Amino acid sequence: MNKKLGLLRDKRQKAFEGGGALRIESQHKKGKLTARERLHFLMDEGSFQEIGMLVAHRSTDFGMEKEKYPGDGVVTGYGTINGRLVYVFSQDFTVFGGSLSETHAEKICKIMDLAVKNGAPVVGLNDSGGARIQEGVVSLGGYADIFYRNTLASGVIPQISAIMGPCAGGAVYSPAITDFILMVENTSYMFVTGPNVVKTVTHEVVTSEELGGATTHATKSGVTHFACANEIAAIQNIKALLSYMPQNCEDKAPALPYETQNELRPELNTLLPENNSTPYDIREIIDHVIDEGSFLEVHKDFAENIVVGFARLAGRSIGIVANQPAFLAGVLDIHSSIKAARFVRFCDSFNIPLLVFEDVPGFLPGTDQEWNAIITNGAKLLYAFCEATVPRITVITRKAYGGAYDVMNSKHIGADMNFAWPSAEIAVMGAKGAAEIIFKREISTAEDKEVKWREMEQLYSDTFANPYRAAERGFIDEVIEPAETRFKLIQAFKMLENKVVNNPRKKHGNMPL
Ligand code: HXC
Repeated sequence: MNKKLGLLRDKRQKAFEGGGALRIESQHKKGKLTARERLHFLMDEGSFQEIGMLVAHRSTDFGMEKEKYPGDGVVTGYGTINGRLVYVFSQDFTVFGGSLSETHAEKICKIMDLAVKNGAPVVGLNDSGGARIQEGVVSLGGYADIFYRNTLASGVIPQISAIMGPCAGGAVYSPAITDFILMVENTSYMFVTGPNVVKTVTHEVVTSEELGGATTHATKSGVTHFACANEIAAIQNIKALLSYMPQNCEDKAPALPYETQNELRPELNTLLPENNSTPYDIREIIDHVIDEGSFLEVHKDFAENIVVGFARLAGRSIGIVANQPAFLAGVLDIHSSIKAARFVRFCDSFNIPLLVFEDVPGFLPGTDQEWNAIITNGAKLLYAFCEATVPRITVITRKAYGGAYDVMNSKHIGADMNFAWPSAEIAVMGAKGAAEIIFKREISTAEDKEVKWREMEQLYSDTFANPYRAAERGFIDEVIEPAETRFKLIQAFKMLENKVVNNPRKKHGNMPL
Protein backbone atom coordinates (compact mmCIF):
# COMPACT_ATOMS: atom_id res chain seq x y z
CA MET A 1 0.00 0.00 0.00
CA ASN A 2 2.78 2.39 0.86
CA LYS A 3 4.11 2.14 -2.67
CA LYS A 4 0.66 2.79 -4.10
CA LEU A 5 0.13 5.75 -1.78
CA GLY A 6 3.49 7.06 -2.89
CA LEU A 7 2.46 6.86 -6.54
CA LEU A 8 -0.77 8.78 -5.85
CA ARG A 9 1.10 11.42 -3.89
CA ASP A 10 3.65 11.82 -6.68
CA LYS A 11 0.90 12.29 -9.23
CA ARG A 12 -0.86 14.84 -7.06
CA GLN A 13 2.39 16.67 -6.49
CA LYS A 14 3.02 16.81 -10.22
CA ALA A 15 -0.44 18.28 -10.77
CA PHE A 16 0.20 20.95 -8.13
CA GLU A 17 3.38 21.94 -9.95
CA GLY A 18 1.47 22.81 -13.16
CA GLY A 19 3.94 23.70 -15.90
CA GLY A 20 6.83 23.79 -13.43
CA ALA A 21 8.71 26.30 -11.28
CA LEU A 22 10.14 28.34 -14.14
CA ARG A 23 6.80 28.92 -15.79
CA ILE A 24 5.21 29.76 -12.42
CA GLU A 25 7.96 32.31 -11.88
CA SER A 26 7.30 33.78 -15.29
CA GLN A 27 3.57 33.98 -14.46
CA HIS A 28 4.35 35.86 -11.23
CA LYS A 29 6.71 38.20 -13.06
CA LYS A 30 3.82 39.24 -15.30
CA GLY A 31 1.92 40.28 -12.15
CA LYS A 32 -0.38 37.26 -12.41
CA LEU A 33 -1.31 34.59 -9.89
CA THR A 34 -1.37 30.91 -10.82
CA ALA A 35 -4.61 29.03 -11.38
CA ARG A 36 -4.42 27.44 -7.93
CA GLU A 37 -3.46 30.65 -6.15
CA ARG A 38 -6.54 32.31 -7.64
CA LEU A 39 -8.74 29.50 -6.36
CA HIS A 40 -7.14 29.83 -2.95
CA PHE A 41 -8.31 33.44 -2.75
CA LEU A 42 -11.70 32.82 -4.35
CA MET A 43 -13.02 29.83 -2.43
CA ASP A 44 -13.84 29.54 1.29
CA GLU A 45 -10.82 28.13 3.08
CA GLY A 46 -10.55 24.36 2.72
CA SER A 47 -13.78 24.10 0.71
CA PHE A 48 -12.36 23.50 -2.77
CA GLN A 49 -12.70 19.94 -4.06
CA GLU A 50 -10.89 19.25 -7.28
CA ILE A 51 -12.36 17.12 -10.05
CA GLY A 52 -10.19 15.72 -12.83
CA MET A 53 -6.79 16.49 -11.36
CA LEU A 54 -5.17 13.62 -13.26
CA VAL A 55 -6.78 14.15 -16.65
CA ALA A 56 -4.21 14.13 -19.45
CA HIS A 57 -4.49 15.06 -23.11
CA ARG A 58 -4.73 12.37 -25.80
CA SER A 59 -2.77 14.18 -28.46
CA THR A 60 0.05 12.36 -30.28
CA ASP A 61 0.92 14.86 -33.02
CA PHE A 62 4.14 16.88 -32.86
CA GLY A 63 5.59 14.67 -30.09
CA MET A 64 2.83 15.73 -27.70
CA GLU A 65 2.63 12.22 -26.21
CA LYS A 66 5.93 12.98 -24.48
CA GLU A 67 4.69 16.20 -22.92
CA LYS A 68 1.86 15.66 -20.49
CA TYR A 69 0.87 17.58 -17.37
CA PRO A 70 -1.77 16.14 -15.01
CA GLY A 71 -4.84 18.34 -15.21
CA ASP A 72 -4.03 19.47 -18.76
CA GLY A 73 -4.02 23.21 -18.17
CA VAL A 74 -7.21 23.74 -16.19
CA VAL A 75 -8.11 23.21 -12.54
CA THR A 76 -11.79 22.33 -12.13
CA GLY A 77 -14.01 21.54 -9.19
CA TYR A 78 -16.47 22.87 -6.66
CA GLY A 79 -16.51 24.46 -3.24
CA THR A 80 -18.15 27.30 -1.40
CA ILE A 81 -17.97 31.08 -1.59
CA ASN A 82 -19.39 32.74 1.53
CA GLY A 83 -20.87 29.36 2.42
CA ARG A 84 -22.73 28.83 -0.87
CA LEU A 85 -21.95 26.10 -3.41
CA VAL A 86 -20.16 27.26 -6.57
CA TYR A 87 -18.54 25.33 -9.45
CA VAL A 88 -15.29 26.73 -10.81
CA PHE A 89 -12.70 26.31 -13.49
CA SER A 90 -9.36 28.07 -13.46
CA GLN A 91 -7.14 27.92 -16.54
CA ASP A 92 -3.46 27.28 -15.89
CA PHE A 93 -1.33 29.41 -18.18
CA THR A 94 1.79 27.54 -17.08
CA VAL A 95 0.61 24.43 -18.97
CA PHE A 96 0.67 24.99 -22.75
CA GLY A 97 -0.31 28.62 -22.12
CA GLY A 98 -3.65 27.50 -20.65
CA SER A 99 -4.63 26.52 -24.19
CA LEU A 100 -7.80 24.52 -24.65
CA SER A 101 -7.40 20.90 -25.67
CA GLU A 102 -10.12 18.30 -26.12
CA THR A 103 -9.66 17.03 -22.55
CA HIS A 104 -9.33 20.56 -21.09
CA ALA A 105 -12.73 21.33 -22.66
CA GLU A 106 -14.20 18.08 -21.35
CA LYS A 107 -13.19 19.04 -17.81
CA ILE A 108 -14.94 22.41 -18.11
CA CYS A 109 -18.04 20.79 -19.61
CA LYS A 110 -18.15 18.27 -16.77
CA ILE A 111 -18.38 20.92 -14.08
CA MET A 112 -20.89 22.95 -16.11
CA ASP A 113 -23.11 19.87 -16.38
CA LEU A 114 -22.84 19.30 -12.63
CA ALA A 115 -23.63 22.96 -11.95
CA VAL A 116 -26.81 22.85 -14.03
CA LYS A 117 -27.96 19.55 -12.51
CA ASN A 118 -27.34 20.83 -8.99
CA GLY A 119 -28.47 24.40 -9.53
CA ALA A 120 -25.38 26.39 -8.55
CA PRO A 121 -23.38 29.17 -10.26
CA VAL A 122 -20.29 28.59 -12.42
CA VAL A 123 -17.30 30.90 -12.13
CA GLY A 124 -14.65 30.68 -14.86
CA LEU A 125 -11.18 32.15 -14.37
CA ASN A 126 -9.84 32.57 -17.90
CA ASP A 127 -6.14 32.76 -18.75
CA SER A 128 -5.51 31.02 -22.04
CA GLY A 129 -3.66 31.21 -25.33
CA GLY A 130 -6.80 29.88 -27.03
CA ALA A 131 -7.25 26.70 -29.02
CA ARG A 132 -4.48 24.12 -28.39
CA ILE A 133 -2.71 24.59 -31.68
CA GLN A 134 -1.32 21.03 -31.72
CA GLU A 135 -4.84 19.58 -31.62
CA GLY A 136 -6.48 21.46 -34.47
CA VAL A 137 -10.19 20.97 -35.00
CA VAL A 138 -10.58 18.80 -31.89
CA SER A 139 -9.92 21.91 -29.85
CA LEU A 140 -12.44 23.95 -31.83
CA GLY A 141 -15.01 21.26 -31.11
CA GLY A 142 -14.18 21.61 -27.41
CA TYR A 143 -14.92 25.33 -27.53
CA ALA A 144 -18.23 24.70 -29.25
CA ASP A 145 -19.16 22.16 -26.56
CA ILE A 146 -18.61 24.91 -23.98
CA PHE A 147 -20.52 27.60 -25.93
CA TYR A 148 -23.47 25.21 -26.25
CA ARG A 149 -23.51 24.58 -22.51
CA ASN A 150 -23.09 28.29 -21.73
CA THR A 151 -26.20 28.94 -23.77
CA LEU A 152 -28.28 26.13 -22.28
CA ALA A 153 -27.24 27.18 -18.78
CA SER A 154 -28.08 30.85 -19.46
CA GLY A 155 -30.99 31.88 -17.26
CA VAL A 156 -30.77 28.61 -15.32
CA ILE A 157 -27.69 29.29 -13.18
CA PRO A 158 -25.62 32.47 -12.90
CA GLN A 159 -22.39 32.32 -14.94
CA ILE A 160 -19.48 34.65 -14.23
CA SER A 161 -16.27 35.00 -16.26
CA ALA A 162 -13.11 36.64 -15.01
CA ILE A 163 -10.47 37.36 -17.66
CA MET A 164 -7.04 37.21 -16.03
CA GLY A 165 -4.78 36.88 -19.07
CA PRO A 166 -5.23 36.42 -22.79
CA CYS A 167 -8.65 35.56 -24.19
CA ALA A 168 -8.59 35.79 -27.96
CA GLY A 169 -10.22 34.50 -31.10
CA GLY A 170 -13.39 32.48 -30.79
CA ALA A 171 -12.52 31.84 -27.14
CA VAL A 172 -14.07 35.21 -26.29
CA TYR A 173 -17.52 33.88 -27.03
CA SER A 174 -17.83 31.75 -23.93
CA PRO A 175 -17.41 34.74 -21.58
CA ALA A 176 -19.61 36.80 -23.90
CA ILE A 177 -22.53 34.41 -23.36
CA THR A 178 -22.09 34.35 -19.59
CA ASP A 179 -23.87 36.87 -17.37
CA PHE A 180 -20.96 38.98 -16.16
CA ILE A 181 -17.39 39.57 -17.32
CA LEU A 182 -14.65 40.99 -15.11
CA MET A 183 -11.27 41.99 -16.54
CA VAL A 184 -8.00 42.79 -14.81
CA GLU A 185 -6.31 46.03 -15.84
CA ASN A 186 -3.02 45.69 -17.74
CA THR A 187 -2.77 41.89 -17.58
CA SER A 188 -5.85 40.78 -19.48
CA TYR A 189 -7.20 41.35 -22.95
CA MET A 190 -10.02 40.12 -25.15
CA PHE A 191 -10.28 40.41 -28.92
CA VAL A 192 -11.55 38.41 -31.86
CA THR A 193 -8.46 39.26 -33.93
CA GLY A 194 -5.22 40.56 -32.40
CA PRO A 195 -3.06 43.58 -33.24
CA ASN A 196 -1.06 41.76 -35.95
CA VAL A 197 -4.11 40.73 -37.93
CA VAL A 198 -5.63 44.17 -37.42
CA LYS A 199 -2.48 45.76 -38.84
CA THR A 200 -2.50 43.48 -41.88
CA VAL A 201 -6.17 43.94 -42.66
CA THR A 202 -6.96 47.52 -41.70
CA HIS A 203 -3.44 49.00 -41.38
CA GLU A 204 -4.31 50.23 -37.90
CA VAL A 205 -1.45 50.10 -35.42
CA VAL A 206 -2.77 49.31 -31.98
CA THR A 207 -1.48 47.57 -28.86
CA SER A 208 -3.24 44.61 -27.23
CA GLU A 209 -4.18 46.85 -24.31
CA GLU A 210 -5.66 49.53 -26.57
CA LEU A 211 -7.46 47.00 -28.73
CA GLY A 212 -8.96 44.83 -26.01
CA GLY A 213 -7.70 45.69 -22.53
CA ALA A 214 -9.89 46.10 -19.46
CA THR A 215 -10.26 49.86 -19.80
CA THR A 216 -11.16 49.63 -23.48
CA HIS A 217 -13.88 47.08 -22.84
CA ALA A 218 -15.16 48.84 -19.71
CA THR A 219 -15.55 52.20 -21.46
CA LYS A 220 -15.77 51.79 -25.24
CA SER A 221 -17.35 48.43 -26.07
CA GLY A 222 -19.13 47.54 -22.83
CA VAL A 223 -17.91 43.94 -23.26
CA THR A 224 -16.70 43.84 -19.66
CA HIS A 225 -18.92 44.79 -16.74
CA PHE A 226 -16.02 45.44 -14.38
CA ALA A 227 -12.43 46.61 -14.89
CA CYS A 228 -10.51 45.59 -11.77
CA ALA A 229 -7.21 47.07 -10.60
CA ASN A 230 -5.69 43.64 -9.93
CA GLU A 231 -6.59 39.98 -9.59
CA ILE A 232 -7.44 40.16 -5.89
CA ALA A 233 -9.83 43.05 -6.57
CA ALA A 234 -11.44 40.96 -9.32
CA ILE A 235 -11.88 38.03 -6.96
CA GLN A 236 -13.44 40.26 -4.27
CA ASN A 237 -15.76 41.61 -6.94
CA ILE A 238 -16.88 38.09 -7.92
CA LYS A 239 -17.73 37.34 -4.30
CA ALA A 240 -19.68 40.58 -3.95
CA LEU A 241 -21.62 39.91 -7.17
CA LEU A 242 -22.58 36.40 -6.08
CA SER A 243 -23.88 37.72 -2.76
CA TYR A 244 -26.78 39.44 -4.58
CA MET A 245 -27.77 36.42 -6.67
CA PRO A 246 -29.79 33.30 -6.04
CA GLN A 247 -28.18 29.94 -6.77
CA ASN A 248 -30.44 29.30 -9.75
CA CYS A 249 -33.62 30.46 -11.48
CA GLU A 250 -35.90 28.53 -9.11
CA ASP A 251 -34.33 30.12 -6.06
CA LYS A 252 -34.91 33.49 -4.42
CA ALA A 253 -32.05 35.95 -4.03
CA PRO A 254 -30.61 35.77 -0.52
CA ALA A 255 -31.71 38.33 2.06
CA LEU A 256 -29.62 39.69 4.89
CA PRO A 257 -31.18 39.95 8.35
CA TYR A 258 -32.77 43.36 8.75
CA GLU A 259 -34.49 45.13 11.62
CA THR A 260 -37.03 47.80 10.74
CA GLN A 261 -36.02 51.27 11.82
CA ASN A 262 -37.16 54.79 11.00
CA GLU A 263 -37.21 54.54 7.22
CA LEU A 264 -37.84 58.23 6.46
CA ARG A 265 -34.99 60.10 4.80
CA PRO A 266 -35.74 63.84 5.20
CA GLU A 267 -32.56 64.83 3.36
CA LEU A 268 -34.10 63.52 0.12
CA ASN A 269 -36.54 66.45 0.14
CA THR A 270 -33.70 68.85 -0.58
CA LEU A 271 -31.43 66.88 -2.94
CA LEU A 272 -32.97 67.88 -6.28
CA PRO A 273 -31.78 71.16 -7.83
CA GLU A 274 -34.35 74.01 -7.99
CA ASN A 275 -33.92 74.39 -11.74
CA ASN A 276 -35.30 71.42 -13.67
CA SER A 277 -32.45 71.52 -16.19
CA THR A 278 -29.65 71.42 -13.64
CA PRO A 279 -27.86 68.06 -13.56
CA TYR A 280 -27.56 66.02 -10.38
CA ASP A 281 -26.00 62.64 -9.66
CA ILE A 282 -28.71 59.97 -9.41
CA ARG A 283 -26.27 57.81 -7.42
CA GLU A 284 -26.67 60.25 -4.55
CA ILE A 285 -30.43 59.66 -4.54
CA ILE A 286 -29.89 55.89 -4.79
CA ASP A 287 -27.48 55.94 -1.84
CA HIS A 288 -30.02 57.72 0.36
CA VAL A 289 -32.78 55.20 -0.48
CA ILE A 290 -31.04 51.81 -0.25
CA ASP A 291 -29.40 50.06 2.70
CA GLU A 292 -26.25 51.91 3.56
CA GLY A 293 -23.28 51.18 1.30
CA SER A 294 -25.04 48.33 -0.48
CA PHE A 295 -24.81 49.57 -4.08
CA LEU A 296 -22.71 47.42 -6.41
CA GLU A 297 -22.61 49.30 -9.68
CA VAL A 298 -22.38 47.26 -12.88
CA HIS A 299 -20.96 48.68 -16.12
CA LYS A 300 -19.91 51.80 -14.21
CA ASP A 301 -17.86 53.39 -16.97
CA PHE A 302 -19.96 52.42 -19.97
CA ALA A 303 -23.03 54.36 -21.19
CA GLU A 304 -22.94 56.53 -18.12
CA ASN A 305 -26.27 58.15 -18.96
CA ILE A 306 -27.88 55.14 -17.32
CA VAL A 307 -26.84 53.62 -14.00
CA VAL A 308 -27.44 49.94 -13.25
CA GLY A 309 -26.43 47.78 -10.33
CA PHE A 310 -27.39 45.63 -7.39
CA ALA A 311 -28.39 46.90 -3.98
CA ARG A 312 -30.21 45.83 -0.84
CA LEU A 313 -33.42 47.28 0.47
CA ALA A 314 -34.29 46.19 4.02
CA GLY A 315 -31.79 43.36 3.51
CA ARG A 316 -33.29 42.11 0.24
CA SER A 317 -31.49 42.00 -3.08
CA ILE A 318 -32.82 44.34 -5.78
CA GLY A 319 -31.64 45.44 -9.21
CA ILE A 320 -31.60 49.18 -9.88
CA VAL A 321 -31.92 50.89 -13.28
CA ALA A 322 -31.68 54.68 -13.14
CA ASN A 323 -31.42 57.47 -15.70
CA GLN A 324 -28.38 59.62 -14.90
CA PRO A 325 -29.14 63.35 -15.33
CA ALA A 326 -25.47 64.11 -14.61
CA PHE A 327 -24.44 62.56 -17.96
CA LEU A 328 -26.02 63.65 -21.28
CA ALA A 329 -29.02 64.80 -19.20
CA GLY A 330 -29.94 61.13 -18.67
CA VAL A 331 -31.04 60.69 -22.27
CA LEU A 332 -31.65 57.17 -23.62
CA ASP A 333 -29.40 56.14 -26.50
CA ILE A 334 -28.17 52.94 -28.12
CA HIS A 335 -25.55 51.98 -25.56
CA SER A 336 -27.62 52.87 -22.50
CA SER A 337 -30.58 50.90 -23.86
CA ILE A 338 -28.46 47.81 -24.47
CA LYS A 339 -26.74 48.10 -21.10
CA ALA A 340 -29.99 48.42 -19.18
CA ALA A 341 -31.81 45.76 -21.24
CA ARG A 342 -29.19 43.13 -20.45
CA PHE A 343 -29.28 44.01 -16.76
CA VAL A 344 -33.08 43.87 -16.63
CA ARG A 345 -33.02 40.43 -18.27
CA PHE A 346 -30.45 39.15 -15.81
CA CYS A 347 -32.53 40.31 -12.84
CA ASP A 348 -35.69 38.86 -14.32
CA SER A 349 -34.00 35.51 -15.06
CA PHE A 350 -32.95 35.23 -11.44
CA ASN A 351 -35.94 36.60 -9.53
CA ILE A 352 -34.28 39.84 -8.47
CA PRO A 353 -36.92 42.61 -8.12
CA LEU A 354 -36.38 45.75 -10.18
CA LEU A 355 -36.36 49.34 -8.97
CA VAL A 356 -36.27 52.12 -11.57
CA PHE A 357 -35.42 55.77 -10.94
CA GLU A 358 -36.66 57.84 -13.82
CA ASP A 359 -35.49 61.25 -14.98
CA VAL A 360 -35.33 61.06 -18.75
CA PRO A 361 -35.77 63.83 -21.31
CA GLY A 362 -36.30 61.30 -24.13
CA PHE A 363 -34.18 59.52 -26.75
CA LEU A 364 -30.99 61.06 -28.13
CA PRO A 365 -31.59 62.60 -31.57
CA GLY A 366 -29.13 62.47 -34.49
CA THR A 367 -27.99 60.58 -37.57
CA ASP A 368 -25.47 58.58 -35.56
CA GLN A 369 -28.24 57.18 -33.39
CA GLU A 370 -30.75 56.61 -36.20
CA TRP A 371 -28.25 55.03 -38.60
CA ASN A 372 -26.95 52.73 -35.91
CA ALA A 373 -30.46 51.56 -35.10
CA ILE A 374 -31.68 53.34 -32.00
CA ILE A 375 -35.05 51.98 -33.09
CA THR A 376 -33.99 48.35 -32.73
CA ASN A 377 -31.73 48.97 -29.75
CA GLY A 378 -34.15 51.16 -27.83
CA ALA A 379 -36.73 48.41 -28.39
CA LYS A 380 -34.46 46.00 -26.50
CA LEU A 381 -34.99 47.90 -23.28
CA LEU A 382 -38.70 48.23 -23.91
CA TYR A 383 -38.94 44.50 -24.63
CA ALA A 384 -36.87 43.57 -21.58
CA PHE A 385 -39.12 45.54 -19.25
CA CYS A 386 -42.33 44.31 -20.93
CA GLU A 387 -41.18 40.73 -20.51
CA ALA A 388 -39.98 40.98 -16.90
CA THR A 389 -42.23 39.25 -14.39
CA VAL A 390 -40.32 40.08 -11.20
CA PRO A 391 -41.73 42.76 -8.85
CA ARG A 392 -41.17 46.07 -10.65
CA ILE A 393 -41.39 49.56 -9.17
CA THR A 394 -40.62 52.98 -10.67
CA VAL A 395 -39.93 56.27 -8.93
CA ILE A 396 -40.18 59.30 -11.22
CA THR A 397 -37.97 61.98 -9.73
CA ARG A 398 -38.22 64.58 -12.49
CA LYS A 399 -38.65 64.18 -16.25
CA ALA A 400 -40.61 61.37 -17.85
CA TYR A 401 -40.96 62.52 -21.42
CA GLY A 402 -42.20 60.94 -24.60
CA GLY A 403 -41.58 57.33 -25.53
CA ALA A 404 -39.00 57.14 -22.79
CA TYR A 405 -41.84 57.49 -20.25
CA ASP A 406 -43.37 54.30 -21.61
CA VAL A 407 -40.05 52.47 -21.84
CA MET A 408 -38.77 53.22 -18.34
CA ASN A 409 -40.91 50.66 -16.54
CA SER A 410 -44.25 52.42 -16.84
CA LYS A 411 -47.43 50.83 -15.47
CA HIS A 412 -48.61 50.30 -19.04
CA ILE A 413 -45.84 47.76 -19.68
CA GLY A 414 -46.36 45.77 -16.53
CA ALA A 415 -44.70 47.70 -13.70
CA ASP A 416 -46.46 46.99 -10.41
CA MET A 417 -46.13 50.37 -8.75
CA ASN A 418 -45.23 53.81 -10.08
CA PHE A 419 -44.42 56.51 -7.58
CA ALA A 420 -43.75 60.13 -8.51
CA TRP A 421 -42.13 62.93 -6.59
CA PRO A 422 -43.93 66.31 -6.68
CA SER A 423 -41.11 67.46 -8.98
CA ALA A 424 -42.12 64.94 -11.67
CA GLU A 425 -42.95 66.17 -15.16
CA ILE A 426 -44.84 63.58 -17.17
CA ALA A 427 -45.53 64.78 -20.69
CA VAL A 428 -45.10 64.08 -24.38
CA MET A 429 -42.20 66.53 -24.53
CA GLY A 430 -40.66 69.56 -22.81
CA ALA A 431 -42.93 72.61 -22.52
CA LYS A 432 -40.88 74.80 -24.87
CA GLY A 433 -40.98 72.40 -27.81
CA ALA A 434 -44.59 71.48 -27.15
CA ALA A 435 -45.71 75.13 -27.15
CA GLU A 436 -43.89 75.79 -30.41
CA ILE A 437 -45.84 73.01 -32.11
CA ILE A 438 -49.34 73.19 -30.73
CA PHE A 439 -49.53 77.00 -30.43
CA LYS A 440 -47.71 77.70 -33.71
CA ARG A 441 -50.51 79.87 -35.08
CA GLU A 442 -50.99 81.87 -31.86
CA ILE A 443 -47.26 82.51 -31.63
CA SER A 444 -46.77 83.45 -35.30
CA THR A 445 -49.65 85.94 -35.28
CA ALA A 446 -48.76 87.51 -31.94
CA GLU A 447 -47.33 91.03 -31.80
CA ASP A 448 -44.46 89.96 -29.57
CA LYS A 449 -43.72 86.38 -30.57
CA GLU A 450 -41.18 85.75 -27.81
CA VAL A 451 -43.59 86.86 -25.08
CA LYS A 452 -46.42 84.76 -26.56
CA TRP A 453 -44.16 81.75 -26.82
CA ARG A 454 -43.14 82.06 -23.16
CA GLU A 455 -46.80 82.49 -22.19
CA MET A 456 -47.79 79.34 -24.09
CA GLU A 457 -44.81 77.46 -22.70
CA GLN A 458 -45.98 78.37 -19.21
CA LEU A 459 -49.50 77.21 -20.04
CA TYR A 460 -48.26 73.82 -21.23
CA SER A 461 -45.92 73.55 -18.29
CA ASP A 462 -48.68 74.37 -15.79
CA THR A 463 -50.88 71.74 -17.43
CA PHE A 464 -48.43 68.86 -17.79
CA ALA A 465 -45.11 69.52 -16.02
CA ASN A 466 -46.34 67.83 -12.88
CA PRO A 467 -47.31 64.35 -11.76
CA TYR A 468 -50.98 65.06 -11.13
CA ARG A 469 -52.47 64.44 -14.60
CA ALA A 470 -50.85 60.99 -14.57
CA ALA A 471 -52.00 60.42 -10.99
CA GLU A 472 -55.58 61.30 -11.95
CA ARG A 473 -55.44 58.55 -14.55
CA GLY A 474 -53.92 56.07 -12.12
CA PHE A 475 -50.72 55.88 -14.21
CA ILE A 476 -49.02 57.05 -11.04
CA ASP A 477 -50.12 55.12 -7.98
CA GLU A 478 -49.00 57.71 -5.49
CA VAL A 479 -47.30 61.06 -5.45
CA ILE A 480 -44.92 60.91 -2.53
CA GLU A 481 -42.51 63.17 -0.72
CA PRO A 482 -38.94 62.22 -1.60
CA ALA A 483 -38.35 61.67 2.11
CA GLU A 484 -40.92 58.85 2.08
CA THR A 485 -39.33 56.98 -0.84
CA ARG A 486 -37.45 54.34 1.12
CA PHE A 487 -40.40 53.64 3.40
CA LYS A 488 -42.84 53.34 0.48
CA LEU A 489 -40.48 51.08 -1.48
CA ILE A 490 -39.93 48.71 1.42
CA GLN A 491 -43.70 48.37 1.89
CA ALA A 492 -44.40 47.94 -1.81
CA PHE A 493 -41.70 45.33 -2.43
CA LYS A 494 -42.96 43.42 0.60
CA MET A 495 -46.49 43.57 -0.78
CA LEU A 496 -45.18 42.17 -4.11
CA GLU A 497 -43.11 39.39 -2.57
CA ASN A 498 -45.36 36.59 -3.83
CA LYS A 499 -46.09 38.07 -7.23
CA VAL A 500 -47.00 35.51 -9.90
CA VAL A 501 -47.48 36.35 -13.57
CA ASN A 502 -48.67 33.83 -16.14
CA ASN A 503 -47.92 35.15 -19.59
CA PRO A 504 -49.12 33.33 -22.73
CA ARG A 505 -47.25 30.09 -23.41
CA LYS A 506 -44.62 30.32 -26.14
CA LYS A 507 -41.39 28.69 -27.23
CA HIS A 508 -39.52 31.94 -26.83
CA GLY A 509 -40.09 35.52 -27.86
CA ASN A 510 -38.33 37.13 -30.79
CA MET A 511 -36.74 40.10 -29.09
CA PRO A 512 -35.28 42.82 -31.33
CA LEU A 513 -31.64 41.68 -31.32
C1 HXC B 1 -0.55 25.53 -27.55
C2 HXC B 1 0.33 27.41 -26.61
C3 HXC B 1 -0.70 28.19 -27.14
C4 HXC B 1 -1.69 27.53 -27.91
C5 HXC B 1 0.59 29.48 -26.04
N1 HXC B 1 1.12 28.25 -25.93
N2 HXC B 1 -0.52 29.47 -26.78
N3 HXC B 1 0.40 26.09 -26.82
N4 HXC B 1 -1.58 26.21 -28.08
N5 HXC B 1 -2.72 28.20 -28.42
C6 HXC B 1 2.28 27.86 -25.20
C7 HXC B 1 3.58 28.39 -25.79
O1 HXC B 1 4.06 27.50 -26.76
C8 HXC B 1 4.47 28.43 -24.57
O2 HXC B 1 4.91 27.13 -24.29
C9 HXC B 1 3.51 28.81 -23.45
O3 HXC B 1 2.21 28.46 -23.93
C10 HXC B 1 3.52 30.27 -23.13
O4 HXC B 1 3.40 31.00 -24.33
P1 HXC B 1 4.33 32.26 -24.64
O5 HXC B 1 4.11 32.61 -26.06
O6 HXC B 1 5.71 31.99 -24.18
O7 HXC B 1 3.67 33.32 -23.65
P2 HXC B 1 3.45 34.86 -23.89
O8 HXC B 1 4.68 35.50 -24.44
O9 HXC B 1 2.89 35.39 -22.61
O10 HXC B 1 2.31 34.97 -25.02
C11 HXC B 1 1.05 34.45 -24.79
C12 HXC B 1 0.24 34.45 -26.09
C13 HXC B 1 1.03 33.69 -27.19
C14 HXC B 1 0.01 35.87 -26.54
C15 HXC B 1 -1.10 33.81 -25.78
O11 HXC B 1 1.46 32.45 -26.66
C16 HXC B 1 0.21 33.41 -28.38
O12 HXC B 1 0.03 34.29 -29.25
N6 HXC B 1 -0.27 32.18 -28.51
C17 HXC B 1 -1.04 31.75 -29.65
C18 HXC B 1 -2.40 32.30 -29.56
C19 HXC B 1 -3.27 31.79 -30.66
O13 HXC B 1 -3.05 32.13 -31.84
N7 HXC B 1 -4.17 30.89 -30.29
C20 HXC B 1 -5.11 30.33 -31.23
C21 HXC B 1 -6.16 31.39 -31.39
S1 HXC B 1 -7.47 30.86 -32.35
P3 HXC B 1 6.23 26.84 -23.47
O14 HXC B 1 6.43 25.37 -23.59
O15 HXC B 1 7.31 27.64 -24.14
O16 HXC B 1 5.98 27.26 -22.08
C22 HXC B 1 -8.50 30.27 -31.23
C23 HXC B 1 -9.70 29.82 -31.88
C24 HXC B 1 -10.74 29.46 -30.88
O17 HXC B 1 -8.29 30.22 -30.09
C25 HXC B 1 -11.96 29.28 -31.70
C26 HXC B 1 -13.11 28.87 -30.90
C27 HXC B 1 -14.33 28.89 -31.77
